[in-house]
Amino acid sequence: MAQATSSCRICGGVLTECLDFGTQPVSNAFLRPEHIGNEKYFHLAVGICGTCAMVQQLEEVPREDMFGFDYPYRSCMSAWMRKHFQQTAQALIETELAGADPFIVEIGSNDGIMLDTVSQAGIRHLGVDPSGGPAAVAQDKGVGILVDYFEESSARAIRAKHGPADVIFSANTISHIAYIDSILRGVDALLADNGVFVVEDRYLGDVVEHNYFDQIYDEHFYLFAVHSVGELVSRFGFELIEAERIPVHGGAMRYTIARSGRRKVSQAVRDFVAKESAMGLDHPAVYEHFRAEIKSIRVALVDLLTDLRAQGKSIVGYGATSKSATVTNYCGIDRDLVPYICDSTPVKQGRVTPGSHIPIVPPEQFSGPYPDYALLFAWNHADEIMAKERRFRETGGKWILYVPNVHII
Ligand code: SAH
Ligand code: TYD
Ligand code: ZN
Repeated sequence: MAQATSSCRICGGVLTECLDFGTQPVSNAFLRPEHIGNEKYFHLAVGICGTCAMVQQLEEVPREDMFGFDYPYRSCMSAWMRKHFQQTAQALIETELAGADPFIVEIGSNDGIMLDTVSQAGIRHLGVDPSGGPAAVAQDKGVGILVDYFEESSARAIRAKHGPADVIFSANTISHIAYIDSILRGVDALLADNGVFVVEDRYLGDVVEHNYFDQIYDEHFYLFAVHSVGELVSRFGFELIEAERIPVHGGAMRYTIARSGRRKVSQAVRDFVAKESAMGLDHPAVYEHFRAEIKSIRVALVDLLTDLRAQGKSIVGYGATSKSATVTNYCGIDRDLVPYICDSTPVKQGRVTPGSHIPIVPPEQFSGPYPDYALLFAWNHADEIMAKERRFRETGGKWILYVPNVHII
């Protein structure tokens, strides 16, 4: 039963609890085997605000426990994502950054996947990211990075040093930040009067429609939708002027935000809001169906893996994603069911997954010899990975996917 628990981080409204995944580890805390036992856990539960409809977590993990020098995520691991961000940067260069001496700031620039294109075009830019490991990769490419958290104080300091930003861009980061009020005050301090704040993020509508329950983990503090983002930014003197679907991470949205009254609001924004209302995305009832679907996926996945193992079949995981923390820990999948996970990220290899302690190995190990089945945790990169690992299926191997339901390819 849904229960009112605590108050909204944005507006102070009452939160109704919708989903509860129990105790979970910090999702990107891939650890060395000798550090097992020394991990941080929290209670992963999601609620919806009765006033502003923002979907958000009920417990906040301290930011230093999630981000920092050891943060292992590297955006550039996916060729599809590299192409996506090249195109995004190029479009901004040709539109918002076409004036004299333009300046762009990126919040959560990671390994420079987006700013690399901007930097090569000779445009003034600054990435802001507290995670020194990926920031060093960006700096090696010649991208300018401030290793810090973006928040109101750092934004004011950037404005004082570099002047106003024509574009503030952020992908898959703003939703990670519980203190989003400070982010928006920072954007207010830094953005040029006619500038735009462009935000890309996973879309709540897809999460609910396609049962993407593993998109819920510590870092995804908020799950954005068009209506809730519009409501959020309006509290800080901004307006959502454009919303566009983008084909990444299983379904995402690009939100373009400007100072209120500065630019025309597109019809697409109104259309998405109407669609979301028809879907019931702003109401706790929609999560009852989602909750039931999540439980049946858990049962079906564990039954399938257990049956295959009982038949003597070999199974390995593919893609040590942050999402996999929710899957393995919520479903109780450990190394008895999945002995290891292949992943191309060098800093994850040799470590084990948080909570479930499944070893991570290089993808070269996938073919030596191929397993009977591969559980695809990186389902959002399915086309790219299945193309790369074409021989696996050609030689009789099968992929197991668990969204939108458990199925074998
Ligand atoms: N934009 C990239 C990276 C997303 S991962 C992409 O879409 O692939 C999220 C990134 O946000 C991490 O690199 C993390 O270090 C960074 N981050 C977390 N809190 C932040 C903050 N307050 N300011 C800036 N970056 C932050
Ligand atoms: P991703 O799904 O992008 O993000 P998240 O951690 O937020 O869930 O993570 C993809 C993981 O899969 C990442 O660790 C890199 C790995 N990967 C491969 O091993 N091979 C590949 O071809 C690709 C595209 C990703
Ligand atoms: Zn609220």
